[in-house]
Amino acid sequence: MSIANSNIDQRDWSALTTGERIRMIEVEGYLVLPDLISPDELANLKAQTATWPTDHVDYSEKQRVRKAVQFEGGSVTHLIGQSKTLDFLRVLFGDEVLMTHYDYARSEPGHPGISLHTDGQPYGSEIFGFEGSCPHLVRVLYYPDDLTLDVSPFRVLPRSHLSMHAQANPYLRYEDHPGVVTVPVTAGSAVLINHKVFHGNQPNGRVNCWRSAIVLRGRARSSRCNRGLKTKLPNCRIKSSRSSLTAIRGTGTSKAVTNP
Ligand SMILES: [Fe+2]
Repeated sequence: MSIANSNIDQRDWSALTTGERIRMIEVEGYLVLPDLISPDELANLKAQTATWPTDHVDYSEKQRVRKAVQFEGGSVTHLIGQSKTLDFLRVLFGDEVLMTHYDYARSEPGHPGISLHTDGQPYGSEIFGFEGSCPHLVRVLYYPDDLTLDVSPFRVLPRSHLSMHAQANPYLRYEDHPGVVTVPVTAGSAVLINHKVFHGNQPNGRVNCWRSAIVLRGRARSSRCNRGLKTKLPNCRIKSSRSSLTAIRGTGTSKAVTNP
């Protein structure tokens, strides 16, 4: 994955109106809510999370996670009620907001990056369980440190959640796409995504610096996942031959991959 050919979204996110924010996440599939967490709260969050034992994911020892952190207490648990985020989600959903899952992730030096994928998967999956079957769900990724271009910044393929083409099958993954946008943010901000949009992150190219994210999922009470499915959950690492993502957005080719 190369960041050199990527577009970089450096707009002034604080200038967006509420309507423009709703349009961003509904149409483009992503949004940044800037400056949500104060410096004192950030210091507490970093001190609390830095001591946690973590597990590595199956594709890299440099990508560390700690799941179900909602009951850890302190600043981490307090973050569930972050008022600016909840205010926005209430307006977006027009309904009571449920925060459903809460994890911590850390990309250490040598992290290879995360390929483009969706979290929204209508039949559920072995990775995301039944959560992915919610009709509408927003992932909220809080960043305790500046998200810079050289330390695993977030990347997204805008509008990819709108495509009806087979190559937008939510069980496929792609290494890259010419329409990908990289989204750097400042510490204390959050990236919000429609869980159906293709997204991932860049490698960590530094030798002494990690990038962490505290990730919540929010949905409207009315947007329930489908726990009634009786079928075997699909494996989202579907193997696919070399394929084009042109139909999703823009031009050029991308390679469907099997690794996360
Ligand atoms: Fe994801």
